[in-house]
Amino acid sequence: MAKGLVIALWSPKGGVGKTLLSVAIALRLSERQRTAIIDGNADNPDLVTLLQSSSLPNIGTWPGRVAPEEVEDHLVRWTSRLFVLPGPTRFIDEAVLSGEAMEAAVRSLSEAGLHVVVDLSAGLRDSTLVALDLADWVLLPVTPDLLALTPLRRVARELDFLKLPAGKFRVVVNREAEGQEISPADIRELSPFPVLGAVPSSRQTAQAINRGDLQAALAASTPVGKAVAAVLRGIVETEPSPQPAASAFGAGLLARLWPIAGREGA
Ligand SMILES: Nc1ncnc2c1ncn2[C@@H]1O[C@H](COP(=O)(O)OP(=O)(O)OP(=O)(O)O)[C@@H](O)[C@H]1O
Ligand SMILES: [Mg+2]
Repeated sequence: MAKGLVIALWSPKGGVGKTLLSVAIALRLSERQRTAIIDGNADNPDLVTLLQSSSLPNIGTWPGRVAPEEVEDHLVRWTSRLFVLPGPTRFIDEAVLSGEAMEAAVRSLSEAGLHVVVDLSAGLRDSTLVALDLADWVLLPVTPDLLALTPLRRVARELDFLKLPAGKFRVVVNREAEGQEISPADIRELSPFPVLGAVPSSRQTAQAINRGDLQAALAASTPVGKAVAAVLRGIVETEPSPQPAASAFGAGLLARLWPIAGREGA
């Protein structure tokens, strides 16, 4: 069985559109293939609210390595081909979203042939590092303002230390609007990573989200839906950068990342 693509959405800054774009991307991917969206934001797991889905099962109840024919039993079905793995229901506790749980979920789902979209929190915790490591592509949403753009350079400088290949990082400009001082062209010039495209700021989307109508808000015919489809074509038609040989399951990954994981826990 062909492995599904793993796409992680991450940014060092909060509130730039990781969650919204994760859902929009997962919806587009699920038009062709079974797709799962993992709520990897343990600090603020908001997919359950956004999708108005059940919070069980969730990543806190993920039982470890799961056989391909059983993965759907551990997910919440949102549409016929789109599944959700909600975030932990408990707040704060690092143990409720461990690196091991993230690794088990991502590997089980991808090996079962599902595309996997991981919506991460800002900042670096164990589970985030694991998702960034396992991802074929890491999409970094940025809003066109200095406070969102500046941290990208810091990320680029730290990648060697994190042992993450820069070749799989791409920037997506979100909430593009006319009259903003930093244009997508400026961002292309400033960004240390290739820019895949820009998603407009849409009042219609924001209103539909607040009505609880996420599918309508992000449908393929909407401005946001169209822009996300274009962004996705930039990576789905391209071969992902080659990944280093997979470490044996459960071993090695966190150990390799330990200097960071240890520091974070300190
Ligand atoms: N293109 C857009 N058009 C309109 N509203 C948007 C757009 N992108 C994001 N938003 C809104 O901006 C807010 C922040 O977006 P979102 O929650 O996706 O950011 P985030 O990066 O996931 O935040 P956090 O770091 O808190 O997880 C939300 O209310 C979302 O609906
Ligand atoms: Mg979010």
